Amino acid sequence: MKRSKIATLVATAPVGTEVDVRGWVRTRRGNKYVQFVALNDGSTIDNLQIVFDMARFTDEQLRGVTTGASLHVTGRLVESQGKGQTIEVQADTIKVYGTADPEKYPLQKKGHSLEFLREIAHLRPRTNTFGAILRVRSALAFAVHKFFQEKGFFYLHTPLITSSDCEGAGAMFQVTTLPLGDVPRTDDGAVDYSRDFFGKPTALTVSGQLEGELGATAIGEIYTFGPTFRAENSNTQRHLSEFWMIEPEMAFYDITDNMDLAEEFVKYCIGYVLEHCRKDIDFLAEHFDKGLVERLEFVLHNDFVRLTYTEGVKILEECGHKFEFPVSWGVDLQSEHERYLVEQHFRKPVILTDYPKEIKAFYMKQNPDGRTVRAMDVLFPQIGEVIGGSEREADYDKLMARIEELGIPMKDMWWYLDTRRFGSVPHSGFGLGFERLLLFVTGMTNIRDVIPFPRTPKNCEF
Ligand code: 4AD
Ligand code: MG
Repeated sequence: MKRSKIATLVATAPVGTEVDVRGWVRTRRGNKYVQFVALNDGSTIDNLQIVFDMARFTDEQLRGVTTGASLHVTGRLVESQGKGQTIEVQADTIKVYGTADPEKYPLQKKGHSLEFLREIAHLRPRTNTFGAILRVRSALAFAVHKFFQEKGFFYLHTPLITSSDCEGAGAMFQVTTLPLGDVPRTDDGAVDYSRDFFGKPTALTVSGQLEGELGATAIGEIYTFGPTFRAENSNTQRHLSEFWMIEPEMAFYDITDNMDLAEEFVKYCIGYVLEHCRKDIDFLAEHFDKGLVERLEFVLHNDFVRLTYTEGVKILEECGHKFEFPVSWGVDLQSEHERYLVEQHFRKPVILTDYPKEIKAFYMKQNPDGRTVRAMDVLFPQIGEVIGGSEREADYDKLMARIEELGIPMKDMWWYLDTRRFGSVPHSGFGLGFERLLLFVTGMTNIRDVIPFPRTPKNCEF
C-alpha cells in the first residue's frame, strides 16, 4: 500500500478505504479496551487519530508507542465518533520505527516556552509551533519566486563570497584559509593576502545588490533570494548574523516605481500566506497573537503612507513622546522611532524616503538639495524596517565624487563603475529581509524563532 500524507487524508477524507500512514506520536491515551494515538507527520498541523482496539493488539505491541516515537500504521479510515476530529484510523497493523524514551525525550505533551525550544532548536521542528512556522516559511519562499517570475523578473544568483562591501558598513565576516596562528606578512608588517586562497581579502556578502545591478543593467529586471551575512554585534529581536534577503533590481525604474513594486510585493506575499497557510496562521494566532489575522488583512487592504524622512522627523520632534534615543534631523532612526510613526501616528505601514546622505550607502541617487538621497525604507508595525532600498545614482561623475568623499577604495569598484560608464540607465531596487517579513506574517516576536537554525553573536549551534 502506498503511504498517505495526513494533509491529504484530512483534505480528502477517503472514508472506508485502507490507508498507510507514518509519523511521530504526539500523545497517547486510553484504557485497557481501547488506546488512542495522535499521529503527526509534519505535512499539516492536524494530527490523525489512530484507534487501537485492544482486543486485537497486545500491550507488548504498543510498548514503544510513547510521545516522540515514530510509527508505521495501516488500517481503515473511518468517520470519528469522538470530539476534535472528523476522521480516524482503526488500526490493523503497527510497526514502531524508533522509540523515544519518555525519561529522555525533551518534548513531552505539555507546552514548552519559546525560550526553552530555542535551546533545543534541533528538535523544535517536531512541535506544532515550529512545524507551522517552517511550513509558512516554505510557502512564503515559493510566493517570492512566484511573484517575480510571473512579472517576468529573472532569478539572478549573486555570489556569497565577495571582495566588495556593498553597504560599506564594514560588518563583514572575513573568508580566509590563512593560518590564524601564523599569518604571513609583507615587509611592512601587513597581512600578505596575496598568499590567501583568493589572493586578496574576501568576505561573506552582506548584500547581492551590486552584482544585482550588473544583472538589471543587462537583462532588465532581476531578483536575488539568498543568504546574507552581517557581523554586526546587535543582539536584538530583529537581527540575525545570517539571514535571507530578497533583492529585486530594475532598469528604468525610478523611486516611485520602486515603492509601488515594494508595496505590491509585500501585499502579494501576505495574501499568499493567508490563502495557502490558513490552518498554520490560525494556529499561531490562537496561541501567540490573537490580532494576527486582522493585522495581516489590514496591511493587505490599506495603502502604505509615503512621506519624506524630513517630514517624519518633524512629526517625531513635535509629538511630545519621550524616546530613549533623542531624535533630530540627521540621526539614523531607531526602531522606537519607526514604530512610533507606524503604530501610534499613522497606524499604517509607512514608506519613508529621501534620507540624509550621511546615514545611507554610497550608491543612492543624490537629490538636488545636496543633503538627501533617494532612499526608501518600508516600516511595518511591530517590526520597524522590513525593506531598505533606493533609486541608484546613475551618473558616473556624481557616483565617483561620493565614492571619493567616502574614501571607498577605487580599485575594488571599477567593475561596478562600468555600469555607469557604458550605457548607464536610471534604475532602482530594494532588499526585503525574509525573516523580518516572516516575523510579521507569523506574529512571532523574536527573529530566532522564524529561521530553523539561527546564527547570532556567540551562537552558532549545529
Ligand atoms: O537596509 P539593508 O541593509 O539594505 C541593503 O542591504 C541593500 N543593499 C538592499 C538593496 O537595496 N538591494 O538591508 C535590507 C533589509 C532590511 O530592511 C532588513 O529587513 C533586512 O534586510 N536586514 C536584516 N534582517 C535580519 N537581520 C539583520 N541583521 C538584517 N540586516 C538587514
Ligand atoms: Mg536599511
